[in-house]
Amino acid sequence: FMPFSLPSIPASLLNAALLFVLQIFINNEWHDAVSKKTFPSVNPATGEVICQVAEGDKADVDKAVKAAKAAFQLGSPWRRMDASHRGKLLNRLADLIERDRAYLAALETLDNGKPYSVAYLVDLDMVVKCLRYFAGWSDKFHGKTIPLDGDFFCYTRHEPVGVCGQIIPWNFPLLMQAWKLGPALATGNVVVMKVAEQTPLSALYVASLVKEAGFPPGVVNIIPGYGPTAGAAISSHMEVDKVAFTGSTEVGHLIQKAAAESNLKRVTLELGGKSPNIIMSDADMDWAVEQAHFALFFNQGQCCCAGSRTYVQEDIYHEFVERSVERAKSRVVGNPFDFKTEQGPQVDEEQFKKILGYISTGKREGAKLLCGGNPAADKGYFIQPTVFGDVQDNMTIAREEIFGPVMQILKFRTIEEVVERANDSKYGLAAAVFTKDLDKANYVSQALRAGTVWVNCYDVFGAQAPFGGYKASGNGRELGEYGLDAYLEVKNVTIKIPQKNS
Ligand SMILES: *[C@@H]1O[C@H](CO)[C@@H](O)[C@H](O)[C@H]1NC(C)=O
Ligand SMILES: *[C@@H]1O[C@H](CO)[C@@H](O)[C@H](O)[C@H]1NC(C)=O
Ligand SMILES: *[C@@H]1O[C@H](CO)[C@@H](O)[C@H](O)[C@H]1NC(C)=O
Repeated sequence: FMPFSLPSIPASLLNAALLFVLQIFINNEWHDAVSKKTFPSVNPATGEVICQVAEGDKADVDKAVKAAKAAFQLGSPWRRMDASHRGKLLNRLADLIERDRAYLAALETLDNGKPYSVAYLVDLDMVVKCLRYFAGWSDKFHGKTIPLDGDFFCYTRHEPVGVCGQIIPWNFPLLMQAWKLGPALATGNVVVMKVAEQTPLSALYVASLVKEAGFPPGVVNIIPGYGPTAGAAISSHMEVDKVAFTGSTEVGHLIQKAAAESNLKRVTLELGGKSPNIIMSDADMDWAVEQAHFALFFNQGQCCCAGSRTYVQEDIYHEFVERSVERAKSRVVGNPFDFKTEQGPQVDEEQFKKILGYISTGKREGAKLLCGGNPAADKGYFIQPTVFGDVQDNMTIAREEIFGPVMQILKFRTIEEVVERANDSKYGLAAAVFTKDLDKANYVSQALRAGTVWVNCYDVFGAQAPFGGYKASGNGRELGEYGLDAYLEVKNVTIKIPQKNS
């Protein structure tokens, strides 16, 4: 992604001291938390507080659910709105995000730490495309007419589920917001969204655009806050009809349990991964090295689908490892507002420490540290691009999700062996294979239990294609036509046909 023509960054953002309080968005209005509590949002590049943000909890979730329910009542402006007009509102929201693209990208960089060039060129591009894609679906999903035995037929209506709780993560704050809002709003639902406490700023700015776009009050409600309070209140709420969560597998368990113990709300989960990236000896070496590097290091390694187990066939192992280390050493780490930067800081101190902990565990368990392994600056949460070689399947760094710039390279001999090893994980989010042999590519893609398999590429995403996990990586699919299913109930209306006109 060459940042050839980036707009300059809004000066107001770079004048560090943004001392405003961001509030909770309910009913198209801004509210303090009921508790009046706030929490700081921190710039991970410096460790300094950017601003205070209202801290929502159960009381605020209750308020938001009440507003959402009212907006969803039969006969409300939202329920009566033409489907084509819902699409128009989503397109308007996309227009407004495009208008403010530089500001939003800068806000994302300030709060999350990802390079501005990436936020502007990748994240914002995908956000706009996602919203436009779902805008198009608004008036294009519909049911069937089905003949029944006897004097009957039925027709099905694809109706919105209702109040959708959506809990989004901090690694792609704007994009995950779009992935959730797009399908929910296209299908006529109402939303109570909790944004991650690490990265609330950009999503709250989008809330102001939701209002400007003309969505009726109560259709979208956005609450910054913590998982154990606001998140738990959403997943256990008796009047939330569905919850969609993107985040860790550990929290996924809690959400599904809360749904089961409350009102059996529908649950979709997009959780962790430890995705295998298999490099066969016939792969194009230059491309495979660069893609394996991208698969792991993209977004500071903070991707649920990161290619975090790089399996390399033995006859190319040494060359591949050498070149991967060279590439990692050349990765530009630094100020995320510098257009040359490839890697910014990790999102917060907790992640920073956790990643350094995994690096020491890797060393202790006998993996070979080939480069990196330390903090990359005196302040902020920067970590050196790190590569481990001679990693064994039973090591902690080969089994657990690290969520940082730490690459694990493992050696394999045969394709049967690597498929079995790749598959031996509780996760099943994504996988990739690099080979010029079509049979090998097809064998691996059908054998692996993973929701996405990339062949000779990695991290290719489009709003048109489904994404989601097997096994402990979650359930349900987001994006694409499949992504609508989670937001629709199917109603069967059965009708008797008179056999003569009486
Ligand atoms: C992995 O397995 C080998 C061989 O069984 C054993 O020697 C080693 O201690 C194990 N390592 C870990 C981290 O469990
Ligand atoms: C993958 O692992 C599962 C168990 O997790 C097993 O049932 C399945 O047969 C394995 N498939 C392959 C191709 O190894
Ligand atoms: C609708 O209900 C009728 C009667 O119960 C049933 O025969 C039919 O299969 C149902 N259709 C669908 C699509 O569920």
